[in-house]
Amino acid sequence: MDKMVVIGNGPLKGTVAASGAKNAALPILFSTLLAEGNHIFTNMPKLKDIESTAELLQSLGCETKWVGDEFHVNVHRPQSFEASYDLVRKMRASFLCMGPMLAKYGEAVVSQPGGCAIGSRPIDLHLDGFKALGATITQKEGYVHAASPKLKGGTFLFETVTVGGTENVMMAATLAEGVTVLENAAKEPEIVDLAEYLNKMGAKISGHGTSVIRIEGVKELKPAKHSIMPDRIEAGTLLIAGAITKGEVTVTKCVPAHLEALILKMREAGFKIDTTKDSMTVYPADKWEAVDVTTAPHPLFPTDLQAQFMALMTVANGTSVITETVFENRFMHVTELTRLGSDITPKTRVAVIRGQPGKLTGAPVMATDLRASASLVLAGLIAAGETVVNRIYHLDRGYEKLEDKLSALGANIRRTE
Ligand code: EPZ
Repeated sequence: MDKMVVIGNGPLKGTVAASGAKNAALPILFSTLLAEGNHIFTNMPKLKDIESTAELLQSLGCETKWVGDEFHVNVHRPQSFEASYDLVRKMRASFLCMGPMLAKYGEAVVSQPGGCAIGSRPIDLHLDGFKALGATITQKEGYVHAASPKLKGGTFLFETVTVGGTENVMMAATLAEGVTVLENAAKEPEIVDLAEYLNKMGAKISGHGTSVIRIEGVKELKPAKHSIMPDRIEAGTLLIAGAITKGEVTVTKCVPAHLEALILKMREAGFKIDTTKDSMTVYPADKWEAVDVTTAPHPLFPTDLQAQFMALMTVANGTSVITETVFENRFMHVTELTRLGSDITPKTRVAVIRGQPGKLTGAPVMATDLRASASLVLAGLIAAGETVVNRIYHLDRGYEKLEDKLSALGANIRRTE
């Protein structure tokens, strides 16, 4: 089932719940390697990337299984501390197994994750962070070897804000001797969720959610139980689906406080949005204004919502300038959106979108990466006629049953060969 067929079908209407956050679930699943025994998770999303992570954990000796709506990870001492190329190349977040294995067992051999469509995705800051904790790092034949009889706490300044780097080094520091201070740390809500799970396991972390995180090393961590935080990117995508179709959609089981930058920009464009602690509603707008957006680390506008917001701007009144500061090549959706009739001029890290309300027409398009595929589905919801999104497997990495959620709101969308 490789295609999604979307037919413009008027305003969406109704209530839809967000699932658990992919980008919190992945580091939390890798953090289980810090504590042998049975870890229990609720609100775990059913996604391709979760399956890939389970496969990697199984290759390291863990047992994973669904028990009703709980996801259990039973961790045993790995036979080998190697994460193979075959598994890592499928999902670069697999590199997050390095910090936990290095801290718990003193060694880790992980295939160098490749880049991907949106950028080269280096890991130099992860490795510099491990070195700051005393690890010896060698790289050969496409694998990174990290070793240390016992990590020692230290201070490390990230020269670039990196979500994965902050997560990897924070996990490693939980079992180091002494105190570690991470400066210019990422502040994403997913970092906070990971730190909260680590603390449930017995870690001593403070400052998570700010740019200075303090980790006091402990001797041992124990398995615990945790509910994965709601997926703010999925929730934002669903809100934009309501907005772009001039509908009225309420997203529940979400945290609007995690989406302040998006909500601010949508209100600036003219949408009425109401929020409660765990839900948000967008109301029908007959037209909306083009607004400029610059992506940046949390709490500023998330790069993971850039493509979806661009779809909204293709049918706004006026010209929007979108600047992508996080990744060097995250405009792959632009050419595909222009196939639907959008008027977009992409430059390096900047795209100029001249809005054309009511002018999109359906066409076959190609998904290139996870969030680009969501952007094409959103545009298909309002394009006249049929839009066929090819290579839809990209979407399945990060959205749980998106077509079911959108159909329940009135969208005409189906999966096909
Ligand atoms: C995480 O990727 C997310 N993935 C991405 O979501 C998200 O787009 C990104 O953070 C930014 O918010 C997961 O959480 C699994 P980074 P990550 O390290 O950790 C540079 C999605 O769609 N950098 O914060 O890989 C890097 O090149 C995905 O769900 C270094 O230079 O992102 C980039 O320019 C896509 N050296 C910037 O930092 C390093 O060692 C931010 O990357 C590490 C990163």
